[in-house]
Amino acid sequence: MRLEELMFRPGLMSGHSVVVTGGGTGLGKEMAEALLVLGARVAIAGRREEVLRETADALMAAHGGEVLPVACDIRDADSIALMADRVWDAFGSPTGLINNAAGNFISRTEDLSPRGFDAIANIVFRGSFLTTLEFGKRWIAGGNSASVVSIVTTWVWNGSPFVVPSAMSKAGIAAMTQSLAVEWGGKGIRFNAIAPGPFPTEGMTKRLKPNEGGAAYADMSQNPLGRVGRMPELANLATFLLHPGAEYVNGQVIAIDGGDYQATGGNFAALRSWSDEQWSQARQSIKAAAETEKAGRS
Ligand code: HXC
Ligand code: NAP
Repeated sequence: MRLEELMFRPGLMSGHSVVVTGGGTGLGKEMAEALLVLGARVAIAGRREEVLRETADALMAAHGGEVLPVACDIRDADSIALMADRVWDAFGSPTGLINNAAGNFISRTEDLSPRGFDAIANIVFRGSFLTTLEFGKRWIAGGNSASVVSIVTTWVWNGSPFVVPSAMSKAGIAAMTQSLAVEWGGKGIRFNAIAPGPFPTEGMTKRLKPNEGGAAYADMSQNPLGRVGRMPELANLATFLLHPGAEYVNGQVIAIDGGDYQATGGNFAALRSWSDEQWSQARQSIKAAAETEKAGRS
């Protein structure tokens, strides 16, 4: 991502340091890159150390600056504390946190096991809370200000069939955003959330559009703007919310989807017409994608 693609002046984020969970891939990587381009120091946290290191090296080679890769599993409170130690040692108190890490897959709800529910909820619902709690305690103890941006979905407003653990978990994060905006706002820690519409990433497409391959976003005619999101558009919104210039924005969930939610509901209602065979095919493709990624985790 180049500076010219962003809407801000050079150096807007200099003096800032931001932690992006799930920053090794997808949307997290894009937001991390934009923040780096605008002068912030950035830490990216995820489970696959090699992926993080490759991303950090590539971003620093392209833009200079500092990207700190930190292996961390947000399902584990001790791992989060170690990640926070690394960040505080390297940057001092970070000025921003993006709760972006997530897990998801489409499935008929009756096909889920308790472990299947936990696989999503432990990352999204519990992991995002535990990360926020660890950072919040440190910010409060140090008297530091910060901005927290959580990446949710428009399903926080209307739910979604076939991704029920994700919809439940993201709605919980939206509730956390509104609650802590009030509880910690007076301590200088503010909370907002972004609900992106379709911004194609490998992680998302493989798990949520498993039967469509390369054709996944070929027809965007139902979207009022007729297209998917552009990464700089998302990065602009995240940067805006992180910057103190937006300090009075607190407790909001903001959609960035071209009006998809209003036009279509923005969820997976259309999958009600899928056959048993389509569900079985989806499960196989999702499993294959997840196995490849699992091999990269230590
Ligand atoms: C039913 C499934 C399943 C499927 C897994 N499970 N896939 N059940 N249908 N397709 C079940 C397994 O059978 C198992 O239960 C349980 O889930 C745990 O499976 P594991 O593979 O051991 O899970 P784990 O290694 O913890 O991996 C978690 C994961 C994985 C979520 C399943 O995909 C992952 O790590 N994802 C991280 C990245 C990611 O998901 N990115 C997409 C974000 S996109 P049993 O009982 O059989 O043992 C996103 C977009 C939203 O959020 C918005 C779009 C508009
Ligand atoms: P992605 O590339 O698969 O990103 C998910 C990231 O989370 C990965 O980097 C993954 O890295 C990390 N992660 C997963 N479990 C983790 C754990 N336990 N601890 C630490 N990190 C973990 O998918 P994406 O599309 O960019 O999604 C990013 C965010 O945007 C998610 O919150 C998603 O729900 C949201 N979103 C995306 C879209 C879209 O259109 N793409 C739309 C709406 C919302 P490791 O596997 O290495 O841990």
